[in-house]
Amino acid sequence: MTMQLKDLGKAVLETQYAVRGPIVAKAQDMEREGREIIYCNIGNPQALEQKPLTYLRQTLALCQYPELIQQAAHLFPADVLENSQRLLVGIEHGMGAYSDSKGVHFIREAVAEFIHERDGIPAHPESIFLSDGASRAVQTVLRMLISGPHDGIMTPVPQYPLYSATITLYDGKQINYYLDEAHNWKLSKAMLEESIYEARRFGVKPKAICVINPGNPTGSVLDYDNIAMIIDFAREHKLTIVADEVYQDNIYLPTDKFVSFAKVMVERGVTDVSLFSFHSCSKGYFGECGQRGGYMEIRNLPKDVIAQITKLQSVGLCSNLTGQVAVYCVVRPPKPGQPSYDLYVAERDHILNGLKTRARVLAEGLNAIPGIECNVVAGSMYAFPKIDLPEGRTDEEYALALLEATGICVVPGTGFGQIPGTAHFRTTILPPTEKIKMVVDRLAGFHVNYR
Ligand SMILES: Cc1ncc(COP(=O)(O)O)c(C=O)c1O
Repeated sequence: MTMQLKDLGKAVLETQYAVRGPIVAKAQDMEREGREIIYCNIGNPQALEQKPLTYLRQTLALCQYPELIQQAAHLFPADVLENSQRLLVGIEHGMGAYSDSKGVHFIREAVAEFIHERDGIPAHPESIFLSDGASRAVQTVLRMLISGPHDGIMTPVPQYPLYSATITLYDGKQINYYLDEAHNWKLSKAMLEESIYEARRFGVKPKAICVINPGNPTGSVLDYDNIAMIIDFAREHKLTIVADEVYQDNIYLPTDKFVSFAKVMVERGVTDVSLFSFHSCSKGYFGECGQRGGYMEIRNLPKDVIAQITKLQSVGLCSNLTGQVAVYCVVRPPKPGQPSYDLYVAERDHILNGLKTRARVLAEGLNAIPGIECNVVAGSMYAFPKIDLPEGRTDEEYALALLEATGICVVPGTGFGQIPGTAHFRTTILPPTEKIKMVVDRLAGFHVNYR
């Protein structure tokens, strides 16, 4: 007899990931039937016409096929050729061999230097773990933190469903802390206190707090004081911090800037709170989601715990080498004066300026539709507008009806969590500006009719 659904564990069956859920499956069916679909459901920039950065692809090409260094040197700028040669020496056995479990040491050194330069704090290659995208590393950390069904992980609501899905899969408890939509999705101490108090009241043991900065799906950006407050809260309640910083390059307002948890922790001399922070080659202006490159930096962890993380990484042998090289390119872009620098800057700025324009056009357009309210998209790649629905309708029904009527594929707010009684959807800002304008126009027509 073949395997049956009933053979699967409850945790597997209960795990949900709305970003690729039933609405997206429906969109794909419609596309196969010839309908034009505008995919606004997932932060996958290169699926929506974003071009890869030339120097990154050139470096990958040379690493994958080093013969090109001799045979086709004229096709590559001198700095990319030199850099790739150095990288290949660092990788030692080439792209087809397993690396150390934590990743190639040479690349981890580059990541540590990047953190040092970004934040002005010391960073060490031994505290860096390269991973198959940030997702794998987040899952490893949640696996370690959840040791039994009473262990709780504080998670923002709304949140990116990697967190809710993984907590369910590992049979832990999600402790929701609500972000304040009326104040641009601000994170307040009162909300944190309230949620931890409630969790304890129901017998849940809070182990960690996850923070996504800049936020997905909220697009909000935390400042230094906010981060300091969260660190103090974690210290007071003996929580580990899981800081998802994959959108650190996606900040659109001149008044905001990215501040890392590591920087605030080190500058404030905090050594008694454990920190895991994550970065990725999938976001920013790289958008290399398919290369599956990411890293995790750890701070304030004892040696025996670090050994356990390394052990878990070892079970998967190592992260993929292509992703490791992509991470290297993220942390070691061309420097001013190098032959590939001008093109790199032009490509980077073109992508970031496009995202900035679309963030504004989308939020303004949504706010002009009666019955839709959208906060400023200050960072990341998403808007999470609130929608007025007719009595008794859900945002899942809304998203499905929107798809059928307009071909626009968004994710219902339920997939990210929201205050009960409210309804939202998440859309990316990734389609080209002309398409974003079309999305807004079609949405306006649809929403008025739907209400
Ligand atoms: C907040 C957040 N963290 C992590 C990820 C996963 O990134 P990666 O492709 O590096 O696994 C995403 C992807 O959308 C994300 O939005």
